[in-house]
Amino acid sequence: MKTKHLLLSLISAVLVVGYSSAQPNTITPAPLISQWGEQTVELSKPLSLYIAAEGEDFSRLDAAVRQTGINLKSVKRPARRNYLNLLIVDKSEVATIADAEGIAEGYVMDITTEGVTIKATTPAGLYYGVQSLRQIYHKHHALTVGHISDAPRFEYRGVLIDISRHFRTKEFIMRQIDAMAEVKMNRLHLHLTDAAGWRIEVDSYPRLTSYAAWRTPHTWKEWWYGERRYVEEGSEGAYGGYLTKEEAREIVEYAASKYITIIPEIEMPGHSDEVLAAYPELRCTQQPERQGDLCIGKEETFEMMQAILDEIIEIFPSEYIHIGGDEATKSSWAECEECQRRMREEGLESVDELQSYMIHRIEEHLNARGRQIIGWDEILEGGLAPNATVMSWRGEEGGRAAAATGHKVVMSPHGYCYIDAPQDAPYSQPESIGGYLPLEKVYSYDPTPESMEASVAQYIMGVQANLWAEFIVTDSHYEHMLWPRAIAIAEIGWSDPKHKDYSLFRERAIAIVDDMLERGYTPFDLKNEIGNRPESLSPVSHLAIGKPVSYLYPSFYYAPQYAAAGDKTLTDGLRGTWTYADNRWQGFLGRGGVDVIIDLEEVTHIESIEADFMQICGPGVFMPCRVEIWASEDGENYTLLTDIDHEVVVDELPSFKSFGWHGSTEARYIRYKAHRSKYSGFLFVDEIIVK
Ligand code: ACM
Ligand code: ZN
Repeated sequence: MKTKHLLLSLISAVLVVGYSSAQPNTITPAPLISQWGEQTVELSKPLSLYIAAEGEDFSRLDAAVRQTGINLKSVKRPARRNYLNLLIVDKSEVATIADAEGIAEGYVMDITTEGVTIKATTPAGLYYGVQSLRQIYHKHHALTVGHISDAPRFEYRGVLIDISRHFRTKEFIMRQIDAMAEVKMNRLHLHLTDAAGWRIEVDSYPRLTSYAAWRTPHTWKEWWYGERRYVEEGSEGAYGGYLTKEEAREIVEYAASKYITIIPEIEMPGHSDEVLAAYPELRCTQQPERQGDLCIGKEETFEMMQAILDEIIEIFPSEYIHIGGDEATKSSWAECEECQRRMREEGLESVDELQSYMIHRIEEHLNARGRQIIGWDEILEGGLAPNATVMSWRGEEGGRAAAATGHKVVMSPHGYCYIDAPQDAPYSQPESIGGYLPLEKVYSYDPTPESMEASVAQYIMGVQANLWAEFIVTDSHYEHMLWPRAIAIAEIGWSDPKHKDYSLFRERAIAIVDDMLERGYTPFDLKNEIGNRPESLSPVSHLAIGKPVSYLYPSFYYAPQYAAAGDKTLTDGLRGTWTYADNRWQGFLGRGGVDVIIDLEEVTHIESIEADFMQICGPGVFMPCRVEIWASEDGENYTLLTDIDHEVVVDELPSFKSFGWHGSTEARYIRYKAHRSKYSGFLFVDEIIVK
């Protein structure tokens, strides 16, 4: 990276002559170097278009360049005036671009009064140059003299689309491919299989699509919390679907025409409830109800998975095949006679090693067919397969550990890359899985921060946004969740961190969103963003700041994973954001609810005591059903200030509510007690504000 930058800065020092320093904020992802002059290119006549590519690449580039909107006429040889030339050149001619990094997707574009030249060493590089040209022309309907030298930071810039939880059609997927290509993304990971439905035709196991692809009722929520029934294709009320091989091939070809690779995911051994529903003979011998792990003891499991993968690799030419590997419960394996026999015979000491045994075998099978496996970070448990690439989702630790041992990694930590959380004030957004992940937070992610050792960073291939669809029933909701946050991932994946500037990015993202809206997409309308919970934006000052809090039910203390700032949380002046996972909200799971005493350390005149609670029913967070507030001067004799009853009603959207007392009293000790309702789950409170 350093070498490249040195080279680029030398070259840019030369090129800057004759250009003004003003940089139009036009191209997304932000390019490595762009310099602009004052003059414009004469466009009253068509530009002569020459493309130095053949066959498929010629047609792909020709189609892309015609989408710029620039008036063009094709010519057989590069013209001398009024031209648009796309040239494949030798590395030595474009020392500015990223081949120094081994990523052959860079390009150099010169816009002069004579015409436009885009040079690259590969057709993909030319394609990205054309995308930049399209953005410039689209914004200004003119071309200003300029120079761009550009190349991606990472080779892998991806999105995961989940078509298992709710099926999406070929047409829908292609629309997202269009939008991805425009921001220079190059991998689409299709989550094709999961409990909620199998979504790809497999000839050797036809019940995967005639049965495991259909369910009732249609929303994931009702299905998952109900009976989890699968039904025969074509039966009454059957909801679901699958991609035929023919459709999947069309998607692959369409994506390739935009230099995007489709990575198919076939989940194993967990998340396989639908496989077991269709082929129950692959269950463990003593399998508990509602458990979706394949039996690793049975040879039939390997026969089936390998046969499926053989069909998958015929459809998807991708080097990488995603084999899942996440969240196996591993609960049946310890009891299953056949799994136990396998463990004895193979000398496996734990169920983690049993999973690892399966992943190793699957890797061997795919490697022998020229493919590589990629899997979720759980595949590290029990020993990583020798050539496996890891997709790090539970955080970055798995990714770092894999990279430290020389395995390639795609970073997709849920705190930044799980775009199934709402992106704005939750009350303004459709129902979702909960949390809060605004564009700015996604944009703040850095897969290889300065603090990461170079020996680790060299194995980080890139970054991916994951859009799980449990709560996303409609296509329009899906697009709303995907855009514009996927654009932030595109920019993280492409642009040099030295150009990272959220306000400039946001301006460009708004322009892209507006353009998408005009074209009939349904992105989140960024210009109307409400933003974070106003209370969280600055600390609140009150009488109890820094005062000690004692928790009256030590055995029902706050939950360790939602401790926030521990005993200091409720009097630290910091109010919570829209999500309880922000280390500001404190979570209580015990039967005792919240029961705390604040010691103001001296008798104080008090006029109000209040605390906010949040409710988000999906993950089991509820309002209290009753709040009592007591006060005392001596810590022995308490007076009840208020006793509030609250009817807890299950609803779809998150809500926030204050429970408090207003009046006038003298007290040193305050007891705040919030009772849990009949719904089991969490109480979350951020601050007890005393004034
Ligand atoms: C995952 O979110 N279970 C990969
Ligand atoms: Zn078993």
